Parts: sequence; structure tokens; C-alpha cells
Amino acid sequence: MCGIVGYIGKLKATDVILNGLKKLEYRGYDSCGISFLNEENYKYVTYKTPGRVDHLINSYDYKMNNFIGIGHTRWATHGKPNQVNSHPHSSASERFIVVHNGVIDNYKELTARYLQGFSFISETDTEVIADLIENFAKTMSTEEAIRKTLSLLEGSYALLVMDKEKNDTIYAAKNKSPLLIGSSDKGVTFGSDLMALVGNSDYYYLIEDKTFIVAQKNGKTTFQAYDIIGKSVKLQQHKMDLADNEIDKGGYEHFMLKEISEQPAVIRRIISKYLINGILEVSEKTKNLFKNKKRIYILAAGTSMHAGFIGRFYFENLAKIPTEVFIASEFAYNPPLLEKDALFVLISQSGETADLRTCLVNVKKMGYEVLTITNVITSTLAREADHALEIYAGPEIAVASTKAYVAQVTVLAILAYVLSEEKPFDLAFELSRLSVAMEAIIDKKEYIEKLVEKKLKKRNCFYIGRGIDYYTSLEAALKLKEISYIQTEGFAAGELKHGTIALIEKDVPVIAIISQKAINHNTRNNIQEVRARGATTIIIATEALSDSADDIILSDVHEFLSPLLTVIPTQLIAYYKAKELKLDIDKPRNLAKSVTVE
Ligand code: M6R
Repeated sequence: MCGIVGYIGKLKATDVILNGLKKLEYRGYDSCGISFLNEENYKYVTYKTPGRVDHLINSYDYKMNNFIGIGHTRWATHGKPNQVNSHPHSSASERFIVVHNGVIDNYKELTARYLQGFSFISETDTEVIADLIENFAKTMSTEEAIRKTLSLLEGSYALLVMDKEKNDTIYAAKNKSPLLIGSSDKGVTFGSDLMALVGNSDYYYLIEDKTFIVAQKNGKTTFQAYDIIGKSVKLQQHKMDLADNEIDKGGYEHFMLKEISEQPAVIRRIISKYLINGILEVSEKTKNLFKNKKRIYILAAGTSMHAGFIGRFYFENLAKIPTEVFIASEFAYNPPLLEKDALFVLISQSGETADLRTCLVNVKKMGYEVLTITNVITSTLAREADHALEIYAGPEIAVASTKAYVAQVTVLAILAYVLSEEKPFDLAFELSRLSVAMEAIIDKKEYIEKLVEKKLKKRNCFYIGRGIDYYTSLEAALKLKEISYIQTEGFAAGELKHGTIALIEKDVPVIAIISQKAINHNTRNNIQEVRARGATTIIIATEALSDSADDIILSDVHEFLSPLLTVIPTQLIAYYKAKELKLDIDKPRNLAKSVTVE
């Protein structure tokens, strides 16, 4: 969602910030802005615009020298995505300039109590933060005024503040919303996501909640971290191991196509990470979390929840542990009656999803242990859980999740397999075979592009399947709708005739997934039912279960692993439909990569 970048040091701040904001575009936003100090006249400049960072870059002049600045991409929560509401925001006298991610729950109460007589330009909660600092700075030092403000804020924030009376300093603070610091001999960079620090930081530091940072250019640029009462704290240093070329399109037209194509390599990377002395293993710490647990509760959102459904199948069929899956936003406020001896498994690509964070806080309060499965091992959900398992998908930039989904399912399979007493097959071998089968279907992408042109012509569509193919149908439907805006539903094939078949009319596309021998026959009957009502069908089947007239025939893989293969043509279908419609594939409308508000 919103993105923050700030810089102070030897480089041109606007270059670092605009470049950083471009790298955060994948998170989703609808307006953006930047403030910096023009070194030539020592005046602060603020540029803001609705729309893309490219517009911010092309509409304004950045020729002046500058060494300090803050920037922001905003995903509207309080107020429309227009120029006035975009960040940075200034305090009433314009002394303080602020960028903010998160939501301040008590901003109205704070306004009533401390800001009588202030008038506001924007509809945002952020402007209130700037004014609170200004109000307290009348009688306090800048640091004290910011700390006093922080002590009053309820809700989530990652904040950067500049004070026009202190041209050499950026102040930062965080609570619940992510914020990191990057450092090198060229300066200090702040970013709400590691991506924003790549390219100009040798080291990065994670900031704990309720920490306050002061970064200063005094010859060399350094920073100091403090807790909320002003006691100095030490942040753990991490070596930056991401390079710029790991987050570019690498010659592909879109990140989504690049990420779809990377999936066979992701499977092989995961095998290598979890293979110890030739055997798939997870740490003792991970295994201990499952000891004496009578039930697993999986919590997740969107695509990660679909991975959770497949995970449930693995936990129940391999590890023999009863498992339930819940939508995080529902579980957070409507939890069911819970088993006492249970483990919570949170699945999240970003590790920052706000709905999940609420669940994590709630279940920890109830005394449960939590395992997070994530692509970002430095994320909030990874750090706050009892333990975290990394999925090793590599940076996923396209909003539509593809390789992270496949990596989540793979790690869930490995975990359930390690926990299973009988190892009914050689998982490492089957995963390697799967990666070859994935390559084969990715190589046929032009064929899928043509199939989409020919058969997907309506503004609505259905995916059907049974068993684990039904879960893939849910994921396939989400992918098609989120990037092509075509209304698509995933259905249990047998359920269609209990109501939804009424929607089937001439040429409505119904895409069926068949990878499970036991229910092949039943799904094929359901296909006949929709064909009889005029549907245009696309059948995706594994070779052993296929019919020569099927549209997409996939190599045979172990049935347990088939969801990792059948999902790939569905990702390509979504991609090519969105491409045909000339839509913004990597940044679909209204969506954000990392959903950091509830
Ligand atoms: O980062 P997370 O895995 O927690 O994100 C959860 C969902 O927001 C995410 O999977 C979303 O559904 C994707 N855009 C789907 O492609």
C-alpha cells in the first residue's frame, strides 16, 4: 500500500527518493509526492500529484542540488486520491513536513483536544500529526515535540518528519507499519520496504515498534535510534543482499510474466534450501511447534489463503493433523470456538498484511504459538511469530501473486511431508519432476495466448474443479478477476447445478481443472452439463486423465503436487487476457501488493 522513502547524505536526494518510489510502485498507490531542500536558496520544495511517479518526475524540475528529502506513494484511506490529500503534508506554519503510512485511529480526538483553532487543508489524518508536532514545538525541542506526539497517537504509523529549522536532520518513527533504514558511506535512506533501499545501501536495519530515529548530516551522515522514553537503542545490522537486477523486469514485458516464468527455478531453489544431507528437512524449532498439537489453524488472505487450502490437504493427508483455514479479516473479529492444543500457521507473502497482524496479536494474547510462512523473513509477521519459515520465492513485484503462491504451496508440502510418519513418496524427486513439467507448459504460453483470444470473450467466466482442483479454481478465478476485471468465480464443480448454473448461457466460458483420478469422471459430467447450456469450455487436464479434445494437457506429476502445475496455465490465461485488454497488468486498479490497513 502506501510507500515511504527518505534520504539524507552525499547523493542527490531527489534521485534516491524518486528512484525508491518507483521501486515501491508495485505495492499499489494512487497519488504521490516529494519534499526536499533546494540547496541553492535553502528553501523547501514540495511537489505532489495524483497518479503515477512518472508523472511526478516528468511534471516538475529537479535540477537544483539537494541532499535531504522525503517522498511518498499514497493509497487513499482518509480522503480522495487528489493532489491536496497526497503526502508530504505540512504543519499550519509549514515548519514541519511529514510523510506517513498507516492509520491514526484517534486523530479526531487529538484534533479536538490539542488543535482547536487549527484549520486543515487536507482530509488526512497525517496533517493532524504535522500540526500536533508544531503545537508542541512551541514549548519543546523538535525531538521532544515529536516524541510527545508519538506518545498520543493510537493506530499504525511509519513516519518521516523534516523540520525547516533543522536542515540537516530527518526524524523517523514507526508503530505497526513497516519502516527500515539503509546505510552506506553515501548516506542514510529510509524506506517502508527493503526494495526502496536497494542500490544505495550496503546495510539495512529493521526498526522495532515505538522506536524513534534521528538521522543527521554532520560531515558524515549517521543515525541514532531511541525508545519512546528517549533511551538510546541499538538496531541490528543486516547486510544488503539484494541487487538492482533482482528487482527489474529482466527483459520481460511485465513482472507478472517474469515471475510466472521463474516458477520452475523457484521450486528448485526451495528444494536446495530445505534439502539437508539429501533429505528434505525443517529445523527442530519448527518441528517442536507441531509437537502435541491436535489441530492446526491456518490464517491468511487472498492468494495466500488459497495456498492455505492446499496446505490443509497436505497437513491432513500427510501429517494427519486436522486443519482448518480461516480468512484472516473474519477470524480477527469472529474467531470460532478454538481447540486448546493448537498451532496457528499464518501464511503471507509480504508478512505485513494488517488483518493477519491483528490475528497474530489476538492469538498470542490467548497463549497460542504461531508459525509464519512468508517470503519476507524480515517482515513484521515473521518477527512477531514464535518462528518463521521462508518460502524463497525471491522478490515478487507484480501485484498478482504467482511465484509466491507456488512457493507457499511447496513449503507447505515440504513441512507436512517432514511431519508425516510414513513418507509415501520421494517428495524431493517429485518436486524436481514437477519443475520440468512446469517448464513444459510455460514454453507453450503462445498457444495459451491464442486460446484466450479464441475462447474468453465474455465479461464473466467460471472455473470449476473438485477436491484440490477446486482450490486451484478459487485461485485461478481470483487471478483472472484481479488483473482483467472480468467477473470470475471459482466453483466446486458439483455445486454449480445447485444454483449458479442458471448463469450459464451461450458462450459463457467455463474452465475446468482435472488432475485427480478419483473425480475425473464426475467433473467431466459437470462439463457436459454446462456445454449442454451453451458454455464455451476450456479443459485443463493432466495427461493420464486427459481426453484428446482437451484444451491444455499437462505432464503427469504426483497427484498431491498437481495444484502446483494446474495453476500455471490459469496464471497465463489471466496474464494474456489482461494483455489483450491492454490493462496495467503489474499494477491493477484499486489493488495494493501489501495490504497494510484492515
Ligand atoms: O502478502 P500477503 O500474502 O499476506 O497478501 C495477501 C493478499 O493480499 C494477496 O495474496 C492478494 O490476494 C494477491 N494480490 C493476489 O494475487
